[in-house]
Amino acid sequence: MSIRMPFFNNRHEPIKETLTEEIVLEKVPEHVAIIMDGNGRWANRRGLPRIAGHKEGMEVVQRIVRVADKLKIKILTMYAFSTENWKRPKAEVDYLMRLPKMFLDKYLPELIEKNVKVNVIGELSVLPPHTLQAVHQAMEKTKDNTGLLLNFALNYGGRNEIVKAVKQMVDDVANGKVAKEDITEELFEQYLYTHNFCDPDLIIRTSGEKRISNFLLWQSAYSEFWFTDVLWPDFTEETLKEALQDYQTRIRRFGGV
Ligand code: IPE
Ligand code: IPE
Ligand code: MG
Repeated sequence: MSIRMPFFNNRHEPIKETLTEEIVLEKVPEHVAIIMDGNGRWANRRGLPRIAGHKEGMEVVQRIVRVADKLKIKILTMYAFSTENWKRPKAEVDYLMRLPKMFLDKYLPELIEKNVKVNVIGELSVLPPHTLQAVHQAMEKTKDNTGLLLNFALNYGGRNEIVKAVKQMVDDVANGKVAKEDITEELFEQYLYTHNFCDPDLIIRTSGEKRISNFLLWQSAYSEFWFTDVLWPDFTEETLKEALQDYQTRIRRFGGV
């Protein structure tokens, strides 16, 4: 069987000028979060090792950053590595841990030029030093930027985040900083990785899976979900446009009428 598939999507072409006309700019979600899934299957279908899918996926991240910047999305959260992804073969994990540095070595200058602020959420303490160094450097160099907030979820797990928050809160109650009666949802949120930003308005998951996989469990309480069979390395601005257009038809009630 011969498999004929284009190796790359349109990521080398300029972003279509008409894109901003096909979306209602006033109704663009403030915070878009993406579960970038399907890199392994993308590679498999081409007879390539899984890491080739991750590498291509990394290129798509920058492509989507450019589009998000153009559409004036305020926050883009990208699920890059879950607390469960350590279960993968060591060689794959090692590669995934090298990706942040590869991405930032290649694209940090462009991110700076675009006024993007880089942030990372997750259990960072156990990441390899080279990974941590790269992300800390990017955060430091972009800390005063006021454009798109590009937020990588790296060794992120929603349950881990909640348990960590509870522990910190218990400490604060014990040392008298917080009174039990004062614990509210708003206060609890202050202990989450995401304390500085709003909840995701739209969560996109690629690759046909319809699950949350431990992503932003607390924050997704009222998020809109959009699923596509497109594998992450094949994701383009057209796919994002479809998601945004669908989002724009939805009526968010937040429990009201
Ligand atoms: C997403 O692609 C990237 C990460 C989870 C790190 P996968 O590697 O999960 O690709 P599939 O799901 O096996 O195709
Ligand atoms: C979710 O994808 C995690 C990331 C995209 C980083 P997985 O591929 O790990 O999710 P499952 O295992 O299919 O639920
Ligand atoms: Mg997967």
